[in-house]
Amino acid sequence: MEKPLKKPGNPNFSSGPTAKRPGWSLNALSNAWLSRSHRAKGGKARLQEAIELSRSLAGIPKDYLVGIVPASDTGAVECAMWSLLGARPVTMLTWESFGQGWVTDVTKQLKLPATVMKAEYGKLPDLKAVDWNNDVVFTWNGTTSGVKVPDSFAPPADRQGLAICDATSAVFAMPIPWERLDVITWSWQKCLGSEAAHGMLVLSPRAVERLASYTPAWPMPKIFRLTKGGKVMTEIFEGSTINTPSMLAVEDYIDSLKWAQQFSFGGKTGLAALLACSSANLKAVSDFVAKHDWIGFLAETPETCSCTSICLKLTAEWFKKLSPEDAAAFCKKITAALEAEKVALDCGAYRDAPAGFRFWGGPTVAPADMALALEWLAWAYESNRPK
Ligand SMILES: Cc1ncc(COP(=O)(O)O)c(C=O)c1O
Repeated sequence: MEKPLKKPGNPNFSSGPTAKRPGWSLNALSNAWLSRSHRAKGGKARLQEAIELSRSLAGIPKDYLVGIVPASDTGAVECAMWSLLGARPVTMLTWESFGQGWVTDVTKQLKLPATVMKAEYGKLPDLKAVDWNNDVVFTWNGTTSGVKVPDSFAPPADRQGLAICDATSAVFAMPIPWERLDVITWSWQKCLGSEAAHGMLVLSPRAVERLASYTPAWPMPKIFRLTKGGKVMTEIFEGSTINTPSMLAVEDYIDSLKWAQQFSFGGKTGLAALLACSSANLKAVSDFVAKHDWIGFLAETPETCSCTSICLKLTAEWFKKLSPEDAAAFCKKITAALEAEKVALDCGAYRDAPAGFRFWGGPTVAPADMALALEWLAWAYESNRPK
């Protein structure tokens, strides 16, 4: 196969930090609130702005709290699990590495006797079998397997437990049924390509009620503490962070939210455009997969196939016969070739996932770039495969 002539305009396909928005430069941060207290009026106003822009862009219900908490998405999920779990039985849904990490924390650290519903890479656990009278912890999009819950999925409206959802690689790229979820978390460096720092924690009125009425049996580290003297610290959800955030990163997050508000794609603007762009990236990959018999999605069904962390596996007969080590080594050769040509960076499968490729297709990635990068993938595959 001839080397393709055209390279993607932007070769960044990492699943986090993801590609910066089109047109981004350091100048976007020139108004950052630096060298001043984040608790001074101007600093707090920036944090409030990040909260309010997130709420309006994502369409979060007015009666939900939106807060900025330490330690990115991991901090937000841990904060929720440590603060809320233990009041009722717990179900953990896991189908890839990050969901499995939450299982470890709940069963080994909090030592809760959780019901664990696990599926292998590429599959989902049986969502119809979940008991929503339990508190349920799950990821919306499994970033390391490229398997998401279907768009039509939503926990029942009459659930008795809390639906606690790590939605870090879904918010701003997939439709989220906010009213059917009680805790939703994400980080800044995923769908909008901002700098990683603090994380976002959204709580439903029922989650807030749990916080106010239940005190966990375990000691609570300061960075997870959402209550004081039995009362919810509402100021966390008004821009008073528990500890000091990077105001440079806050400025970058605000910049990405403002870009997203006016982003247009496929005749749509704002959130609808973000979702449409990410879908178009998945379509570019689907078209490529349909044209080549040596590659397929790791996700086993189209409705569970992620449009952000798009995971691919090699399906050629010769490849299936390789040992896991040789399979991983072959894929590494391909990603090294793509990197050497500067056409697709960081597109290897996650370290714990089956050998293959992962191309980020969130809304900061142009579908035309995705299509071009895949042409280079075909070239790298054909040049390196055994003849
Ligand atoms: C599903 C999921 N959960 C949690 C994390 C950890 O996020 P962070 O690094 O923002 O803490 C990631 C990171 O990729 C993720 O994909």
